[in-house]
Amino acid sequence: MQTTNSYSLEKDIESVLISEQQIREMTDRLAADISKAYQSTIEEGRKLVLLTILKGSVLFSAELVKKITIPAELEFMKVSSYGAGTKTSGEIRIHLDLLRDDLPNLDILVIEDIVDSGRTLFRLTQMLRNRGAHSVKTVTMLDKPSRREVQFVPDFCGFQIPDKFVVGYGLDYNEEYRTLPFVGVLKPEIYAPKQTP
Ligand code: IMP
Ligand code: MG
Repeated sequence: MQTTNSYSLEKDIESVLISEQQIREMTDRLAADISKAYQSTIEEGRKLVLLTILKGSVLFSAELVKKITIPAELEFMKVSSYGAGTKTSGEIRIHLDLLRDDLPNLDILVIEDIVDSGRTLFRLTQMLRNRGAHSVKTVTMLDKPSRREVQFVPDFCGFQIPDKFVVGYGLDYNEEYRTLPFVGVLKPEIYAPKQTP
């Protein structure tokens, strides 16, 4: 019988790339940097909005936002650039939008799980700026710079990683593995099954 707990999920993992402890230390560092960078937002009377991109960023966001020491509001958007599987489609679709009428008073920090081609955050940040946000910056847990297809550099980054398909700590393959408490490399045979003759 198939079970859905992490013990059965872990058998599909080739190696642990980033441990829970490393994620804790990384979010300590990022939260300190972010808290410092946005001091002027509060001093100048604007609001800091921490905009979590569903679903992949939820675990990273929960670990990060509680360590940020300046006042901030939480918002959520759901966007996608990927269909099923591991290939990018090159466009973003908005499934859940940010509905605010005070964008000129907002410094928005977009919280993302991973930057790959760069298309999602390139287009999303462009859109939020066009709508009139005072500022739009990005923090990502992981970055795969070697995969970039558009010019995009995150403002804050947890770890740069090699070109491997990773899951866990929010990241999925076809909606599975998000609940793993670490980031691991998925065994290639899971997403590229061997052809049977
Ligand atoms: P981009 O628009 O190509 O930068 O894609 C970013 C999105 O692709 C992320 O938010 C993830 O949903 C997905 N993605 C990219 N690489 C991976 C990976 O290694 N594992 C899981 N999802 C990934
Ligand atoms: Mg995502």
